[in-house]
Amino acid sequence: MNYGYFDGENKEYVITKPNTPAPWANYLGSPEYGAIISNNAGGYSFVKSGANGRIIRYRFNAINMDQPGRYIYLRDNDNGDYWSGSWQPVGKPLDKYENQCHHGTAYTNIKSKYTNIKAETLYYVPLDKTYEVWRVKVTNEDTKVRNLSLYGYVEFSNENNYEQDSVNLQYTQYITKTYFRNNKIIQTINENVKQSVNGSTGKERFFGVAGAEVAAYEGDRDTFVGEYRNYSNPIAVESGKCQKVLNYNTNSCGALQIDITLNPGETKELAFVLGAHNDDASSKILASYEDLSQVEKELQELKDYWHGKLNNFQINTPDENFNHMINTWNSYQCFITFVWSRAASFQYCGLRNGYGFRDTVQDIQGIIHLAPELALEKIKFMISGQVDNGGGLPLVKFDHNPGHEMTPDDPAYTYDRYRADDALWLFPTILKYINETGNDDFLDEVIPFANKGEATVYEHLKRAINFSMERQGNNGMPAGLHADWNDCLRMGAKGESTFVAFQLYYAMAILKNIATDKKDDAYVAYLDEKLAELKETMQTKCWEGDQFIRGIREDGIVVGSKNDPEANLWLNPQSWAVISGCADKEQCEKALDKVYERLNTPYGAVLLDPPYKDHAFDGALMLLFNPSTKENGGIFSQSQGWIILAEALMGRGNKAFEYYRECSPAEMNDNAEVRKLEPYAHGQFIEAKESPFQGRAHVHWLTGTASTVMVGCVEGILGMRPTVDGLNISPSVPSDWKEFSIFKSFRGKKLNILVKNPDGKEGGVRELIVNGEKVEGSFLPVSMLKEENEIIATM
Ligand code: GLC
Repeated sequence: MNYGYFDGENKEYVITKPNTPAPWANYLGSPEYGAIISNNAGGYSFVKSGANGRIIRYRFNAINMDQPGRYIYLRDNDNGDYWSGSWQPVGKPLDKYENQCHHGTAYTNIKSKYTNIKAETLYYVPLDKTYEVWRVKVTNEDTKVRNLSLYGYVEFSNENNYEQDSVNLQYTQYITKTYFRNNKIIQTINENVKQSVNGSTGKERFFGVAGAEVAAYEGDRDTFVGEYRNYSNPIAVESGKCQKVLNYNTNSCGALQIDITLNPGETKELAFVLGAHNDDASSKILASYEDLSQVEKELQELKDYWHGKLNNFQINTPDENFNHMINTWNSYQCFITFVWSRAASFQYCGLRNGYGFRDTVQDIQGIIHLAPELALEKIKFMISGQVDNGGGLPLVKFDHNPGHEMTPDDPAYTYDRYRADDALWLFPTILKYINETGNDDFLDEVIPFANKGEATVYEHLKRAINFSMERQGNNGMPAGLHADWNDCLRMGAKGESTFVAFQLYYAMAILKNIATDKKDDAYVAYLDEKLAELKETMQTKCWEGDQFIRGIREDGIVVGSKNDPEANLWLNPQSWAVISGCADKEQCEKALDKVYERLNTPYGAVLLDPPYKDHAFDGALMLLFNPSTKENGGIFSQSQGWIILAEALMGRGNKAFEYYRECSPAEMNDNAEVRKLEPYAHGQFIEAKESPFQGRAHVHWLTGTASTVMVGCVEGILGMRPTVDGLNISPSVPSDWKEFSIFKSFRGKKLNILVKNPDGKEGGVRELIVNGEKVEGSFLPVSMLKEENEIIATM
């Protein structure tokens, strides 16, 4: 069953049935003022930190699913009937109540129609602003005059800190008050505190309205809702009268009642505004919306900003869903993970106040082709999270202070220990950035280390190699340390991970090219030797004839050997054998074929098979999860990107695209009741074959899947493989694609690429025609580029 459709032209997903199997969300704003909103207006807002700057409550995992939210209630004052602008929380019968939710790029517009009254609420955070706007338009489509009341409603948190607000009630209930001033509710917290006491100072939030007069209000949540009631039937709405009660030692809220009379055909418009600003500042903000045309202007600015970024890469292929994912939704999700990391969603409450090293360095890869300048800023930031011993800090805090951070070597450092993979992610990310932009001078830029000192980017990369070299296991591969990419895998201090070994191999190969350009001959020789040694080790100790093992534990026992009773084939070592360039062609093909045979399912390839139940070792923490779930043999969606890329690099377009389709949210649009998560956003994992709910996806939006699948599709399937000197065009597509086109901005120039596939190939390009000129092979030199270029690539 589907609950909506993709509107490619407007870059929106339109939800036509509001009773979606999970809250289907969108992101508004920036971490300066962030908001998450569902199709039923559920969700929360925060300033700077989801956990420490929370201003709207949201009850995670509650039976009243997806509450509270940013509610608009409507009441017919002639008969007492009432409903909400979003289907929930009132939940009118869907045969009488129509609803559409348009999730767009950083805005959400929820439209309803009930008893001939149309209401439309546009929710957004204006670009670079620290408050949110809910613009409401109400239209009378009846033939008679209608007398209505409209209520804007928000449940404030009583304290910025999410945990305090939720559990420390003996404190947080007694620190907040509300006031009604100048058409708005002002909420104060710790208002007596003029200077910091225990780190707290007084705070203020506001919820006001522009374009209408407030008839009555409520500042006390329980007065609004009423005893033994809930958000579906608040007494203030049911009775038609807010009582102007302000909270004191109870839960605060902002409820503003506006009475409106509408002639037939008449529309009224107003805007609620919410934020963490004091009386003065909020009055100024509200005044700027007295002319409501401001809203349309700001909406246009948002669209220009986001569409401007997304339009740097657009495709038109025979597969509509693929187009929607690449042109809008996967790209937009890449920006969301890039900006928000794992901070705030309906599963992540924001308690982790920083960027996971590996997560963010990978997230960056998803936007390099769309916004290389933003990527560069974040790359520098993450490099400054590298310790001078070459390892990555497990968490680079939002308020990271390069040169002054503690490291896992400091006894007082509590966050976590070194992981084996963190700094190795820098190599592909920096390589992709340099290849996209041609900016290889970046390698000479000096960037501080997290703890002390500074060095060029080139030196940072050398230190990362050193970090792995100084932490070798018993067989000459890098040690698994606290974990590798897989958070659930502890190999022991001298245990080894083949995934990290392949990463290291790839990193050294990348750095060797750089060192060669730099004529750093001694280092090239060193890397040559190390590459050869590592390859030899991988070939002799890790290859079992048709698959690579997952690692060798400290005690010598092999993990992921084909003879193991459980977890005897793992996905990532096979895909990374290909990506790293460490395996030979025959090995690559055998390993990929085995993955396809053994691990593939209708929803993607499982991470390992069979899941652990009775034969796990001590460090196999995934045993904690049910079989076919998360790291215990679930379809871990991030890994799908790598198998797509690996198949594509081998020129096996049919397989690459099959893996893409299996895990693509859009492909599940018509089976949304199975997948449950948004059909426009990847989740962290999908339940696999041993689950009774195979195909159900979890942990929406904030996942590395966005970037790996993006890279798998753009670099792999679509074959956009830039180098410093130009662009390799090497698609790996389904053999039945006759033709498709790509628009790509590249180094400030426009490329219109038409790919023709007359012979039904699934990989490779034999000739290019660049602005009418024939070029043998698939490489487009940057020297041939004009401002705008017409390129025909024949497969
Ligand atoms: C989660 C973590 C990520 C890790 C992955 C696999 O997605 O955010 O860092 O690599 O799980 O364990």
